[in-house]
Amino acid sequence: MAHHDRGEHSPEIIDPTQYWDDRYTRPDNIWTGHVNKVLAEVAGQLPVGRALDLGCGEGGDVIWLAKQGWQATGIDISTNAIARARKAAENEGLAENQARFIAGDLSELALADEFSLVSASFFQSPVALDRFRILRQASQLIAPGGYLLLTSHAIMPHHPHTETMVTPKEEVAGLALDPDAWRLQTAELRTRTHTFRNGDTAELSDSVVLYQRL
Ligand SMILES: C[S@@+](CC[C@H](N)C(=O)[O-])C[C@H]1O[C@@H](n2cnc3c(N)ncnc32)[C@H](O)[C@@H]1O
Repeated sequence: MAHHDRGEHSPEIIDPTQYWDDRYTRPDNIWTGHVNKVLAEVAGQLPVGRALDLGCGEGGDVIWLAKQGWQATGIDISTNAIARARKAAENEGLAENQARFIAGDLSELALADEFSLVSASFFQSPVALDRFRILRQASQLIAPGGYLLLTSHAIMPHHPHTETMVTPKEEVAGLALDPDAWRLQTAELRTRTHTFRNGDTAELSDSVVLYQRL
């Protein structure tokens, strides 16, 4: 994932749908369109099944999953992002039952489906986001034996950022999943070199948390 625009925002006064729709209206795609590396590594080891991507943006992760044989669903608050994701899936020749996209606010959506993987890649926002409540609700959609994968910005030095950072420890504490019902498989920081669109590079650390539902 790449960041191209940043600014100061007050979470209290900016409507999240409006904020994200505005960002996804700008002419260039915000993200690279490539799958996030951690998701590819983790999902690449799992038997294919039904996957849900929270805050799917322009659909890079969902499209990659669908191309691996998963029945993948992506949800995002921005209808503009979802329109871009649908177009990208169509360009890849993917059908709706392979890569499905839903526009909606995850804090209000009631899904009844069951998934073997729920993933959230950088599901973070500079404006209001009831993140842990959404993640906990989404975890209830995971079938026994299925996985919850959270890849999140933890440290972004030398770069002005407004998204809320989260360490693996904070992620685990915020989720507060029942240890009798969930096995924590990974909770670690992973560092990568990121190249911004203007050519600047930065060492970023991501929090990677992987749970399996028992
Ligand atoms: C930092 S972006 C990450 C996008 C994508 N997962 C990626 O890795 O490139 C966060 C995404 O979460 C979405 N989002 C923010 N709040 C949301 C909410 N309440 N419900 C659904 N999506 C939301 C935004 O529209 C945005 O696409």
